Amino acid sequence: MAGILNWNELWKVMRSGHYRRRAHEEDPSSMWDKRAREFNKFWMQNRERAEKQIANLELKPEYTVMDVGAGTGRLAIPIAKRVKTVTAIDQSKGMLVCLQENMEKEGITNITCVNKRWQDVEVGVDIEPHDVVMACHSLGMFDIQEALAKMDLAAKKYVYILTSAGRRMGDGEEEEGLWKAIYGEQRHRTRAWGSDYMFFCNLLHDMKIYANVDIRDAESEQRYDSLDDAVTKWKEMRDIPAEKEGILREYLSKILIEDDGTGTLCLKRKSKSATIWWQKAERGGDVANT
Ligand SMILES: C[S@@+](CC[C@H](N)C(=O)[O-])C[C@H]1O[C@@H](n2cnc3c(N)ncnc32)[C@H](O)[C@@H]1O
Repeated sequence: MAGILNWNELWKVMRSGHYRRRAHEEDPSSMWDKRAREFNKFWMQNRERAEKQIANLELKPEYTVMDVGAGTGRLAIPIAKRVKTVTAIDQSKGMLVCLQENMEKEGITNITCVNKRWQDVEVGVDIEPHDVVMACHSLGMFDIQEALAKMDLAAKKYVYILTSAGRRMGDGEEEEGLWKAIYGEQRHRTRAWGSDYMFFCNLLHDMKIYANVDIRDAESEQRYDSLDDAVTKWKEMRDIPAEKEGILREYLSKILIEDDGTGTLCLKRKSKSATIWWQKAERGGDVANT
């Protein structure tokens, strides 16, 4: 049931073409196919963060876990080491190829990959309910209420949504300066706000899901062999046009710090992360689909 504000409709407006800056965003799976290798390399250097993110999830050895938008298995892999089985759902083949390679490297055999959009998954037909259903930075569906209701439906015990609180990594003030210099406009604040935990909490409340929230400090560290290496990777991950490379290079030369020990360049960032969660038996009330 919607209150004064209809959060789902607001979300749709935020996700609609009006706020889209890059044409490729119309096809998110190919965007992630293209980014998969770089994303995987970056996060394999930051495995501590994944361990911290899953440290407080209820993961028992007998549990089955469904990871919606599992990507390269950054969380699915450490989770698979603690539980019975993991089902990793992702729309991007490229991300799942990396996940399968990561599984092989670590000798993991209890993850099943499903290459589908969450919107196209039918619970009880394509996939049976799992003990735990989770999503980490992967909820960008146009109809977010439907996506959340489906996560609730698919969970037997717990649902976890891992997202950002306040600014996301990469939403720092300096990066806004880069955006303005490259695109000649201020980055639209609603994009970052749209994945903020407050948004999900409000919408869930309207759905009569009174979720718990944990807020924590988060850090990441990215290393580059050289300034050229950083420019190439940023161009790829952020789709920066070739003719704007000079602006990007200048920006990176200001924010990257030389690591004396290794001769590499380093970027350290701090942010706040949020874990929104609820237990099926405890929450009370029915999920409202309208
Ligand atoms: C930022 S990555 C996060 C990956 C992983 N959850 C993690 O925390 O490392 C987002 C992932 O969600 C996937 N994704 C986004 N929307 C999706 C959807 N509607 N259905 C399935 N996968 C989706 C993307 O393909 C991408 O792999």
